[in-house]
Amino acid sequence: RVSPSPGSHLISCLVVLFSVVWLVELKLVEFSEPGIFNYSTLLLSEDKDVLYVGAREAIFELRMTNVSIKNNKVQWKVPENHMTMCIVKGKSKETDCLNYIRVLQVLDDKRLYVCGTHAFQPVCHYLSLKDFSLEGPAEDGRGKCSFDPSQSFTTVMVDGELYSGTSYNFLGSEPIISRYSLSQSLLRTEYSTSWLNEPSFVFADVIREGKNSADGEDDKIYYFFTEVSVEYEFFGKLLIPRIARVCKGDLGGQRTLQKKWTSFLKAKLVCSMPELNFVFNVVTDVFILKTADWRETVIYGVFTSQWGNVGLSAVCAYDMLSVENVFSKGKYMQKATVEQSHTKWVRYNGITPHPSPRSCNSSLHLPDKTLQFVKDHPLLEDPVLPIGNGPKLITKDVSYTQIAVERVQALDNNVYDVIFTGTDKGLLHKSVVYDGLVHTVEEIQLLHKSEPIKTLLLSSQGTRSLYAGSDSGVVQSPTAFCDKYPSCSDCILTRDPYCAWDPDSSTCVNIFHTQAASAVPPLSPVDTSSSLSTSGSSPSLPPSSTSSEGLGVCLLPPSLQDQAWGVQAQEAFLLFCLALGPSDLQIHWQVNGAHLETPITEYRHPLVRGDPHGEVLVSSWVRERALVKDSSYQCVAASSAGNDTSKVDLNILSRGSDQRLLG
Ligand SMILES: *[C@@H]1O[C@H](CO)[C@@H](O)[C@H](O)[C@H]1NC(C)=O
Ligand SMILES: *[C@@H]1O[C@H](CO)[C@@H](O)[C@H](O)[C@H]1NC(C)=O
Ligand SMILES: *[C@@H]1O[C@H](CO)[C@@H](O)[C@H](O)[C@H]1NC(C)=O
Ligand SMILES: *[C@@H]1O[C@H](CO)[C@@H](O)[C@H](O)[C@H]1NC(C)=O
Repeated sequence: RVSPSPGSHLISCLVVLFSVVWLVELKLVEFSEPGIFNYSTLLLSEDKDVLYVGAREAIFELRMTNVSIKNNKVQWKVPENHMTMCIVKGKSKETDCLNYIRVLQVLDDKRLYVCGTHAFQPVCHYLSLKDFSLEGPAEDGRGKCSFDPSQSFTTVMVDGELYSGTSYNFLGSEPIISRYSLSQSLLRTEYSTSWLNEPSFVFADVIREGKNSADGEDDKIYYFFTEVSVEYEFFGKLLIPRIARVCKGDLGGQRTLQKKWTSFLKAKLVCSMPELNFVFNVVTDVFILKTADWRETVIYGVFTSQWGNVGLSAVCAYDMLSVENVFSKGKYMQKATVEQSHTKWVRYNGITPHPSPRSCNSSLHLPDKTLQFVKDHPLLEDPVLPIGNGPKLITKDVSYTQIAVERVQALDNNVYDVIFTGTDKGLLHKSVVYDGLVHTVEEIQLLHKSEPIKTLLLSSQGTRSLYAGSDSGVVQSPTAFCDKYPSCSDCILTRDPYCAWDPDSSTCVNIFHTQAASAVPPLSPVDTSSSLSTSGSSPSLPPSSTSSEGLGVCLLPPSLQDQAWGVQAQEAFLLFCLALGPSDLQIHWQVNGAHLETPITEYRHPLVRGDPHGEVLVSSWVRERALVKDSSYQCVAASSAGNDTSKVDLNILSRGSDQRLLG
């Protein structure tokens, strides 16, 4: 039956518009070598056009444009005596006592700094890029790299100094946030549960606030981890996601906090659904979307719940200004003793010492009073809240392990944040933020096996590829698969900002490839949008008439053919067409070749609310009395960006006394 209510069709189509998820099967470029596993450390070098890969007992240099091509390889095994010591200490010869490369950082133009777990005795080397060989002498890797290959861990290299979040001992029981540089001794966190309490490190990176001050003394390194809370009374261990920071210019204290951070502070990172009282309390990965002005930086995090059986994953986003607000103005917490030996964390209401411990001013001049305060007050009470006070995306029965985000400008001139999330089953989800909400537009099986994506990197400038590392190999994937969408409506319904319909070639094209390489020859980089929007027969259309013509015009399902199946003879019936196109889009109807004037009901909606020149959704209905003879119906969506037509022949079929119409 044709739906009696015009409005209900429009809504269902709009729902379809936002919920199409494509499962695409693809041939991706891959790399692995027989007998080598745990390809979990990746490093992109865009200017050298290579991807460095740290695996178990080997480091590779692959070509960024095609990771199946290996430029170089160096093996790094554990000597016999180290191996024996490791085995004597009760570790497994086949797994624990091998060398897992976990630190891979660019030191300068000619060298990488690399560290491996080295049979539970971490060691670092310089890797010469000239002949791709390890240069001696080996350095102690303690505090830079984990002992245990399965323990969580993070590093970042900032101006030749290595910042790590790891553990300092064999047992993995002494957590540490450290800085290593050639010129200074190791700077580290105080060994105390109020500073770090069984943390699982996920990410660290620098935010350069000091662009204007030459010495960059306001630059800060942010760490993200999950740890056991000290501030909540809980039956068992309650996990808490944290954001912590240290100043790049920190030199440690003179007497108190000697060789320790004097700028360490941490806060709770909230990702929850307050209305449901549901908290995502485990952060699994973080991506920092950096911008020219550090204040506009957005931090994206993926979260799960400590109680894994809930099966939910969430993405929360944080703006840098609220982070900065918490760290510069948030209230401190402090330990208070209630009833004998029982301690409790409460808000600190006293006066904070002067000079303030929160500035990145030269730490060597801080008085003991300030330093003692820093030592006792590492935790802030005020939490960092997500943008919109809740998750941007919640997914069920999926466990996200990795995240990467790209900011792109689509043909409609809007800027979108595209979120790539990798799962523990080797899947990749691509989601787009529209009007503050996130829609998953694509799901692909990135890895052959159902195994976790351990690392996910994104190259926005160069190859526009994603690089994923797993236990069994490295995979390279494009960021969009536009050519998989066979029709205009499929292309547009995905709502993938990388894709647009090219009416000339009748293909769904990647707008970035089209601009970059001329893969579609007639489209030059300059007038891409007008070429895409203009039908072949009217190439002289003014290219700048509106900003919205990028996508061409297209009729959305269901087609007239599909609607005809519900039409009954000798009864009034409705037909409708729904089209998406530029603002001058009109729908015309024809019956048996003749123009149909009235009565036609029409609805127009701008796709982006409040943008009268943007794309519109137009729906048009005809209401017909019972048919007496066979008829042909046609609707044409006509616009400056071309036409799209849907057609149906309605034939009266007699079956006994029952008369039906068929398309
Ligand atoms: C990558 O390189 C391999 C080996 O040279 C080649 O067979 C393959 O076609 C290349 N793939 C792409 C996408 O260029
Ligand atoms: C290394 O890879 C093997 C094989 O896939 C896997 O079983 C093991 O858990 C991995 N080890 C680590 C430390 O990731
Ligand atoms: C930081 O140092 C500068 C110059 O030494 C001084 O003017 C400023 O007051 C200090 N800021 C804080 C918060 O101590
Ligand atoms: C599009 O349709 C309009 C109205 O039906 C017609 O005037 C125009 O010629 C058509 N344009 C093309 C390129 O088919």
